[in-house]
This record gives sequence, structure tokens and C-alpha cells, in this order.
Amino acid sequence: MDASVGSRTVPRVYLSPPHLSGRELDYLRDAIDSNWVAPLGPHVDAFEAEISELTGVPHALALSSGTAALHLALVVLGIGPGDEVACSSLTFSASANPIRFVGATPVFVDATEETWTLDPALLRQALDERPQIKAVVAVDLYGQCCDYDALRALCAERGVALVQDAAESLGATYREEPAGAQGDLAVFSFNGNKVITTSGGGMLVSRTDEWIAHARKLSTQAREPAPHYEHTEIGFNYRLSNLLAAVGRAQLEVLPDRVAARRRINARYRELLPDVEFMPEAAYGTGNCWLTCVLLPEPERVRLALEEEDIEARPLWKPMHLQPVYRDAPVYGGEVSARLFEHGLCLPSGSALGEDDQRRVVETLRAA
Ligand SMILES: Cc1ncc(COP(=O)(O)O)c(C=O)c1O
Repeated sequence: MDASVGSRTVPRVYLSPPHLSGRELDYLRDAIDSNWVAPLGPHVDAFEAEISELTGVPHALALSSGTAALHLALVVLGIGPGDEVACSSLTFSASANPIRFVGATPVFVDATEETWTLDPALLRQALDERPQIKAVVAVDLYGQCCDYDALRALCAERGVALVQDAAESLGATYREEPAGAQGDLAVFSFNGNKVITTSGGGMLVSRTDEWIAHARKLSTQAREPAPHYEHTEIGFNYRLSNLLAAVGRAQLEVLPDRVAARRRINARYRELLPDVEFMPEAAYGTGNCWLTCVLLPEPERVRLALEEEDIEARPLWKPMHLQPVYRDAPVYGGEVSARLFEHGLCLPSGSALGEDDQRRVVETLRAA
């Protein structure tokens, strides 16, 4: 549906649509011409190498989604029934669901007011009280890294693995290091709404070769090295297609531009809405500003007013500890993310968002 502005008809403004570079077809044509259209091939290998180079993390595995990457991270860590996994509560459900896939129990931990990411003090309390916690899933929210100095120290002290859910933070930094370099394992998503996309896809990275080698085997049905199909463990069908890796390589070329554009959009919102409270940017890093988020007295009224103008906005993630499906899961804190959910709104933030459209968003928000 299109909206009318004066006598003009303007297209819908989406929250975070794909933004192609124009080079995707060249890469796709190469994949098709070479007949590498399977879930393996030169673009998959090159995409992995390029993500390794970008993040400085030596081992990378291209997968069909970020969710698959999180699932395999927990499997190679040996997490299973009887174990608990601490997880940021303020996140998308895909951060937590893989904990259930492996039969473990999630323990949700609230965010800090200052960063909206995992609260190290509450995590310490959870780790002190729950020796069953074997891993932590720390989520980089809306493109902002967690405070990894604190989280890494805690996890190292307790011998607990740190899984960095960097699905939203590709291109961000933490203390001048690329996002994804902070966890024992880290996960990226190339879903259609992310900073760059393969339409759907993910990546698992780690400095520990054995974990990535094991995940690689598990991602292709856990086939043993034999001429016939021999299996000693349960595998999955999680590999990324060479076609999608080709798209990913074209997208990766423009990642710095895409991050710069989203940061510009975020800065412009701040400039045009000086009396509105925004998600804080932590001093320890540079976010990729995947989505620009604000706190408002009545966010739903504003969302509906934007929708009237054919502008897509969205509430913040509903915290996992408030989700009916996780009703019984233990939770540490919870008030901060509950308040952020009550007042938060994600504004259109796509890297192709034009100044006119952004001004229309701001004017509609102001009027509401
Ligand atoms: C924080 C977070 N974790 C995990 C995922 C899952 O990634 P995917 O959609 O690629 O499975 C997403 C996004 O979709 C996400 O935002």
C-alpha cells in the first residue's frame, strides 16, 4: 500500500529493508555459470575467509541462519539436558530458542539502563547461585556490543563458555575490535532485515578450530569420512548455499558504507528530535546503529500514527522473561527490560532511507 503526501503517492517506509549494492548479480552469475549452486563451493569458502578477515577470528562456518549458528554453538559446547544457559532477556526469541533445542534450561538476565545489554552484576549473581549454568548467550542489542571486558572476566573465572550473539552487530566495534571477536564463539545473521543480507543466512566464528570443525561436520548431516554414509552422531542440514554466499560477498563489500549510512540516520534522528530519549551509545564501542530506538511515553500511539502514514515502526523486543513460552524460566532482574519494552519504539533505520522519508517519520512522530 502507498501513502499520499499532498498530491504525491509515496511508497511505504519499511523498518529495515534489504539494500542491494548492484554487484550481487555479478557474483550470482559467476556461481551459476560455474554450476556451483549447491550448499558448498568457492563463494561459501571465500565468504567464510572474508568474515574471518573482517573480524580477526580465524575460523568461520557459513550456515543457513543465525539461529542454526547458535544451535551448533551450543551443541559443540556439549550443552544438554540438566544444563542451564544464561541469556540476555531483552532480545529476539532466536537467541534463546536454541537453548531449548538442546534440552537445556534458559536463565534470563536483565539489561543495564546504560547499555540495554546484559547486566554483568546480575550475571555474576546468577553464576554464583546456579552452578548448572554452563554457558552464557550475550546479545549485542540493536547493533551495540555488550560490555565484554566484564562478561569475559566473569566467564573465565567460572569456566563458563561465552557465546556472543552478534546477529545484529556486524560492523560494530568493542574497544576498537570488530564485533564478533569477543566471545568464545560468535554468531552473525544475514537475515533480510540485517545490516547486510544473504536473504537468509548466518555464520559461526571462533578461535577454537575444533569447535568450528565439529560444527562443520554437524552442519552437513554429521557424515563420517567413509565412502558410504556413516553416522556416529546426529547431524543437521544447516549449510549456506553457494548462491547465497555469492550475494553475501557482494553485500560484504559495502558493509562500511551501510554502517556509515545507519550511523548517519541515527545522528540525524538525534538532531531532529533533541528532546527525545534514545538508546544510549556505550563509551566502550561504536554501534552499527542497526535500528535506531527511542523511548516515548506512549509508543503504541506513535506507532499507529506512523502506520497511518504507511511507515513501519516496531516495539522493542518483548523480553524473554515476559514471553508465555518462557513463563517457567528463572530470571535475574527484569524490571529494566520490561520498562524499555513498555516505552521503546524502533524507527525506520534502513541504510537506503532518504532524507525526505526520514523527515516524514520525524514530523509524524512529532505530531503524534
Ligand atoms: C539477536 C538475534 N539473534 C538471533 C537472530 C537469528 O538470526 P536468523 O534470523 O538469521 O536465524 C536474530 C535475527 O533474526 C537476532 O536479532
